[in-house]
Amino acid sequence: MANDLLKGKKGIIFGALNDQSIAWKTALQAHAQGAEIVLTNAPVAMRMGEIHDLAAQIGGAPVIPADATSVEDLTALFEGAMEHFGGKVDFVLHSIGMSPNVRKGKHYTDINYSWLQTTLDVSAISLHKTLAVAKNLDAINEWGSVVALTYIAAQRIFPDYGDMADAKSLLESITRSFGYHYGVAQKVRVNTVSQSPTVTTAGSGVKGFNEFVSYSESMSPLGNADALACADYCVTLFSDLTRYVTMQNLFHDGGFSNTGVSQEVISKFAPEA
Ligand SMILES: NC(=O)c1ccc[n+]([C@@H]2O[C@H](COP(=O)([O-])OP(=O)(O)OC[C@H]3O[C@@H](n4cnc5c(N)ncnc54)[C@H](O)[C@@H]3O)[C@@H](O)[C@H]2O)c1
Repeated sequence: MANDLLKGKKGIIFGALNDQSIAWKTALQAHAQGAEIVLTNAPVAMRMGEIHDLAAQIGGAPVIPADATSVEDLTALFEGAMEHFGGKVDFVLHSIGMSPNVRKGKHYTDINYSWLQTTLDVSAISLHKTLAVAKNLDAINEWGSVVALTYIAAQRIFPDYGDMADAKSLLESITRSFGYHYGVAQKVRVNTVSQSPTVTTAGSGVKGFNEFVSYSESMSPLGNADALACADYCVTLFSDLTRYVTMQNLFHDGGFSNTGVSQEVISKFAPEA
């Protein structure tokens, strides 16, 4: 379904690790809608080499490694992207998350605080650094759009999501705060998309993930939104059709966030007839 929604637009996409990644699918969908893209990921994630397959699929996009916690790397990334495009960018996808505490199975009440710093830096403060570098370099066009991915554990407790919940709360707060300042200064918009649980490398790292996907499916009137649908939603947010949307946390979850309980879940508690 190519409508040229992003024709003439140029963007940077963070976080395409493999073909399950939300960022991977977003790069494909944005390219199909006419966008030109620069891909980036952490230098360690480059070792698998899969990102180069994606780069080839989207017309030979440049791949510029950057650790999103490093202002130096981010500066080189935006400078490299502007040099490649011959001008500023129109959109950025921040699709980055990692918690050493969750990875190593640390209970939320007994976290390692040095790892918590890493969780917050990688999963939330990296958005502030990305926005600050872009603003300082004046790297994003007016009405440009920055989207970061988040999860509803920022608002409600999901026990096994651990300190990622705190990181997502901070990510959403940075979105509001920076979105205000960037909007006033340069009319750049900043939003988060709060996505359904999705089978990816990051998602599957959460304990009990498969059971949780089934629970979420049974609590969502439309069912869980998959990575491809998330990619399509991100494309709309990069497009000019959503140009007055900023500082929002937008649920892309099949209705999960507004469902108190579903008939399907209630029926699991009904006495046997
Ligand atoms: N999968 C889900 O269930 C789900 C649900 C809601 C939100 N999200 C969010 O979507 C985003 C993308 O995750 P995904 O599910 O596609 O998984 P993924 O594992 O494919 O992507 C996570 C990416 O973060 C990158 N990353 C980690 N540390 C980095 C660093 N220091 N610098 C730059 N990049 C770094 C990884 O290399 C990887 O590409 C994350 O923010 C995640 O929290 C995922």
